[in-house]
Amino acid sequence: MPESAPRRPLLPLIGQVGGGRSRATCRFRCGDACFHDAPNTSGNAYFGDIFTAALSRRNALRAGAVGAGVSALGLGGLGPAYADPKRGRGTRNPRLRFKSVAPNTDDKVTVPHGYDHNVVARWGDPVLPDAPEFDFENQSAAAQEKQFGYNCDYVGFRQLDADRGLLWVNHEYTNETLMFAGYTDGNDADPEQILISMAAHGGSIVEIERITGTGAWRLATGERRFNRRITAKTRMELTGPAAGAELLRTEGDPTGTEVFGMLNNCSGGMTPWGTILTCEENFNQYFVGGEDAPAEAKPALKRYGIKVEGDTRDGNRRFDRAEERFDLSRHPNEANRFGYVVEIDPTDPASTPRKRTMLGRVKHEGANPRLTRDGRVAVYMGDDERFDYMYKFVSDKKYRSGSRRHNGTLLDSGTLYVAKLTGDSPAEEIDGSGTLPSDGEFDGSGQWIPLCNATESFVEGFTVAEVLVHTRLAADAAGATKMDRPEDFEPNPVTGKVYCALTNNTSREPGQADEPNPRGPNKFGHVLEITEQGNDAGAEKFAWSVPLVCGDPDDESTYFAGFDKSKVAPISAPDNLTFDDQGNLWIATDGQGSKLGINDGLHAVPMEGRFRGELKTFATVPVGAECCGPFVTEDNLTVFLAPQHPGEDGTVESPQSTWPDRQGFPRPSVISIWHTRGKKVGR
Ligand code: FEO
Ligand code: CA
Ligand code: CA
Repeated sequence: MPESAPRRPLLPLIGQVGGGRSRATCRFRCGDACFHDAPNTSGNAYFGDIFTAALSRRNALRAGAVGAGVSALGLGGLGPAYADPKRGRGTRNPRLRFKSVAPNTDDKVTVPHGYDHNVVARWGDPVLPDAPEFDFENQSAAAQEKQFGYNCDYVGFRQLDADRGLLWVNHEYTNETLMFAGYTDGNDADPEQILISMAAHGGSIVEIERITGTGAWRLATGERRFNRRITAKTRMELTGPAAGAELLRTEGDPTGTEVFGMLNNCSGGMTPWGTILTCEENFNQYFVGGEDAPAEAKPALKRYGIKVEGDTRDGNRRFDRAEERFDLSRHPNEANRFGYVVEIDPTDPASTPRKRTMLGRVKHEGANPRLTRDGRVAVYMGDDERFDYMYKFVSDKKYRSGSRRHNGTLLDSGTLYVAKLTGDSPAEEIDGSGTLPSDGEFDGSGQWIPLCNATESFVEGFTVAEVLVHTRLAADAAGATKMDRPEDFEPNPVTGKVYCALTNNTSREPGQADEPNPRGPNKFGHVLEITEQGNDAGAEKFAWSVPLVCGDPDDESTYFAGFDKSKVAPISAPDNLTFDDQGNLWIATDGQGSKLGINDGLHAVPMEGRFRGELKTFATVPVGAECCGPFVTEDNLTVFLAPQHPGEDGTVESPQSTWPDRQGFPRPSVISIWHTRGKKVGR
């Protein structure tokens, strides 16, 4: 058995429904998205369509043009080591040396030999100084507003000094059947339960401190002046070109600039100027009354997965019972005020969170910045839906180190782009099975299509405000490439290459497979690598490849950048991404349970040098949990992880997980992982 890979047979599939998610996640997180048709009914080509439907001569010409396009990208600017993935990067060896954690279905966190972990913060922990202690049996909205929220997703961290830092955590959504005994749905919920759920959404900023002599962190004691809770009721501003637009005005806010709360914040990012970007994802599920919304509003509502037919209250959390604004029959524009990237200053608890309309309105997964060669800021963003798109924003103005006021304006003007990808292999070689084409790689060229800037729309029939509020519709019209659920999208700080996790798409049929989405159905997901022209985040052209085609490595459809598959670990549903200081890619998963019958986890893989593709499992999370976070601290001594929705299919009466406290119910939490002898993580 190879040293690095536990190769025992994978476990039988458990609890799989719909597109492969567990029942509770489908209901509470995505509003049963997989049970409905994908909302993208645009005629935009699956790349394969172009080839199979069109004339072969024209295709040959097109393929030739693509080849020329790739060579014209100026990749020489990257330097030979970056341009050739087979070559090592000088004397640096990015190899990760830990031994993989074996696949398992345990109700616990497992880390490699030599590492340890602890719980940093758990649902209900006091955040504000006057917060009461958590009392599961007697929870109240007033308490929850001051306590750590539910299901933790994105984790950001900013070190204040050697042993103290600020932790930002997204509270994506609530799983009421695990929070309240006897819960059925929002129609029957006690009004106080609805208010508790609203208070458990949003995010938390907590000061944390390192436990002396270890890599472990815990909630700070003493003065905690930065601690803050953001909920579904927190006052926020809409900023940027669409702020004030008719589409954003409501009875409660005739100015179209003030909104309360953020919903379903999934992943995020941190800016060079120290703010948090936290991203609203499946906001569609919080609205009812779509069946009685104005007819002219329905196509756009539907494109975002908002129900406009049937009983829209069935199975809903019914936030409209607490606040009427969630009823689209009365307030049809309220849904237009969710689905944004929200910027928050974690160092100013009195600051107003800002929904940045310039970055578009989609089911945002994350938003991760990189500076362009001339010092402006580019932000990469995925829209997590089957057959939806990848986006990039590039600011007009340059980042100014130390100028907080100036940098606070950067995300309000710039250009919003959507990605179009073209393969370089003949379409008939992409058959949906995952078999590599004859040139040995799923790869090609791409273009960032501009949708609008702050003053001008580039999409016929759309104003700037319409592009930014109905971004999916504008991108349909622009001819973007339909991807397999683009999740986290993250630049490698060492090489500048950019990576996007395409988590899966079981609705892609074999005939819809294309080179950037080479499997149909795509059950296990893949990872896309983008090299911007001239390695400049401001470029409008790029080269791309698919270095990781995920799954059980014994499955012939998988690919690990050409690395020996007998030496890699299984991975499914790549979701959140991060990097360490050597540019190794860390991949957290969301769906290994339903796809491979094993718990989700955190994997790490070198993306340069001769160990490119040697994927190992660094941690696994408790049964039923999705692996979120992850965040590697700047000193590389700690990884923060957020095991989200442990035991997600259980109920209070019949829990499937009791992690971490074994008190009869699970508590979604954030953990830290460190090497017991103080080594950098992974090495
Ligand atoms: Fe909330 Fe796309 O994961
Ligand atoms: Ca190819
Ligand atoms: Ca995610």
